[in-house]
Amino acid sequence: MIYLDNGATSFPKPESVCAAVSEAMRQCANPGRGSHEAARAGAEVLYDCRETAAALFRCKPEQVVFTMNCTQGLNMALRTLVRPGMKVVISGFEHNAVTRTLHGLGARVVVAGRKLFDPEDTLRAFYAALRQGARLAVFTHVSNVFGYILPIEEMADACRRFGVPFVIDAAQSAGALRIDFQKLGADFIAMPGHKGLLGPMGTGLLLCRRLPYPLIMGGTGSESIRQEMPDFLPDRAEAGTVNVPGIAGLAAGLRWVQRETPDHIGQIEQSMAQETAQMLNDLGMEVYSGRNQLGTVSFRCGMDCETAAQRLAEEEIAVRAGLHCAPLAHASADTLDTGTIRISFGHDACREQIAALRYAVQTRLPPVNG
Ligand code: ALA
Repeated sequence: MIYLDNGATSFPKPESVCAAVSEAMRQCANPGRGSHEAARAGAEVLYDCRETAAALFRCKPEQVVFTMNCTQGLNMALRTLVRPGMKVVISGFEHNAVTRTLHGLGARVVVAGRKLFDPEDTLRAFYAALRQGARLAVFTHVSNVFGYILPIEEMADACRRFGVPFVIDAAQSAGALRIDFQKLGADFIAMPGHKGLLGPMGTGLLLCRRLPYPLIMGGTGSESIRQEMPDFLPDRAEAGTVNVPGIAGLAAGLRWVQRETPDHIGQIEQSMAQETAQMLNDLGMEVYSGRNQLGTVSFRCGMDCETAAQRLAEEEIAVRAGLHCAPLAHASADTLDTGTIRISFGHDACREQIAALRYAVQTRLPPVNG
């Protein structure tokens, strides 16, 4: 199979990740719940993963909270910051993890910047919303549908100047673009562990500058006599037994990324996406591409997207089709009525994948005007 669905999860994982999960299954018991060797081995896994993540994202280890995915991290961050009726500015490319959560919390949402691959438009609209009194900003680093890299450094800078707290959704960028928590000054950055960081599904990270609302309450192994959740990180946000084998795998994934560097991984993904966009254009597809695009390319052909993806699957090409849980992004790009077929490259992006995709598209998908 040629796997081009890394926007959903990276696959296959590096061998070191599988080995780390297996070893933790054999060696580790519940961390923080006992002083025996197996519990200490579990605690060591958590410590190691926190330290590795902190070094990669430039924060303190205790600011790294383990979650089960990026959505949980975003829920925790937004539950901490949003009050009913609060005016919140978001980009035109947000995922349902952000929009549904804001809706559920009763925020007044202002959508700023809906032009694809146009950072100037994004910034202009974003500044205007801040000037008009937005009290919180939430924005994705990279669109999960189109791969558009938003100008988050400038957006972060604007938030800091306006004194507006902000949350970054790094679901599609962590592992493939540099993320400097200290420099950005975000209140929270949420990311999955299982996409660009190459960990197992069921893992995620929330980088915290302030104490988060504890979405899940219960035992933490600390301050057990008190009925309130601990008021320090990371315990406040990690009630219950954590996913030690998953976190062991995530630590191995982080090390893989650290060794290759996000700059290098991102550059390869970007150049593969450019070549793919050109190839699809040449085959008569309607392609969404531009500058500031990471490793994801959406396109449409002369048949519905779901059937097209099914045909590609028959050729052993794995892609995702439809709305990708991001109707707002599709509304911004005017593809809400049809959805798109999405190609998303990962850490193993290479020309052989493009060649196989080319053959399958050419033989099985009609061009837009065909
Ligand atoms: N949000 C993930 C995606 O884009 C699951 O496919």
